[in-house]
Amino acid sequence: MQPQAMNPRQDKVAIVTGGASGIGRSICMALCRQGATVIVADIDRPAAELVAANLTREGYRARALELDVSSADAVAAGVDAVVAEFGHIDWMFNNAGIVVGGEVQDIDTRAWRRIVDVNFLGVVHGTHAAYQHMLRQRSGHIVNVASMYGLFPGILVAPYVATKHAVVGMSLALRSEARRQGVRVTAVCPGFIRTGLLHSGQYSRGFTAKGLEQSIPFGFTDVDAAAATILRGLRRNRALVVFPLYARITWWIYRLSPWLMIFINRLATPFYLKKAHDRHS
Ligand code: NAI
Repeated sequence: MQPQAMNPRQDKVAIVTGGASGIGRSICMALCRQGATVIVADIDRPAAELVAANLTREGYRARALELDVSSADAVAAGVDAVVAEFGHIDWMFNNAGIVVGGEVQDIDTRAWRRIVDVNFLGVVHGTHAAYQHMLRQRSGHIVNVASMYGLFPGILVAPYVATKHAVVGMSLALRSEARRQGVRVTAVCPGFIRTGLLHSGQYSRGFTAKGLEQSIPFGFTDVDAAAATILRGLRRNRALVVFPLYARITWWIYRLSPWLMIFINRLATPFYLKKAHDRHS
């Protein structure tokens, strides 16, 4: 039997982890507008259901899936169930993530383990589960949402920086293997996007989301604009989608002279420390 030709717009199926809010939610909305069927996968079930219900009400095809990406079995079961129902998977967005911030001496190992479990192993679990199906299909796109802090170090967020570097490394290593099999892999490395990420973060002694937010010297990108930039990068099959401009410039400086960047970070750390200890919130 000949394989059925897929309509490039109508028959696409996407799973978006962390799809219930922020960047994930905007990606779900943008994909739906392109005609895709979207699985809004999130640990926050009511929020995922709300996003899916709103999209369905607008006439789009969306479904909620309660999923903790730190569980390999749960992610595999979720992805397998989607493929069993729809017959294929076109996009796996490993987007769910959390922040752990503060000075390293104040961050306990449980917090380190949690951020590794969600930000790095969560991406590994999603990649592993979707890749099996994509290899069989000889098509598909794995999209791992890292951060500009996956390309160079940020200040006072060492666990976040570590996990995002791991995501970028894994994605780029896989990309060359996967290409031979018809599967695309992209790592997304944004700067600061206006979402609830910082406010749901876990911070060590004296740090607050508001304080951290105030210490950031750049404007925050609108979340829908960020989703549009990401999808444009995917259409061009970029290995890395790095934005906005300051993220690209900083990355360029870091590649030119890692020493210079680390020196600048050293000078900026006292300023960040002062701002991040916001005692009024
Ligand atoms: P957000 O906090 O708005 O959304 C994150 C979503 O992930 C939430 O819906 C949350 O419920 C879900 N989630 C958290 N833990 C989960 C788990 N164990 N299993 C399944 N879902 C889980 O944050 P935002 O900003 O949309 O973040 C999305 C991704 O973008 C994250 O990986 C983040 O690190 C990355 N990013 C965000 C930037 C920003 O400035 N907001 C900048 C660069 C990267």
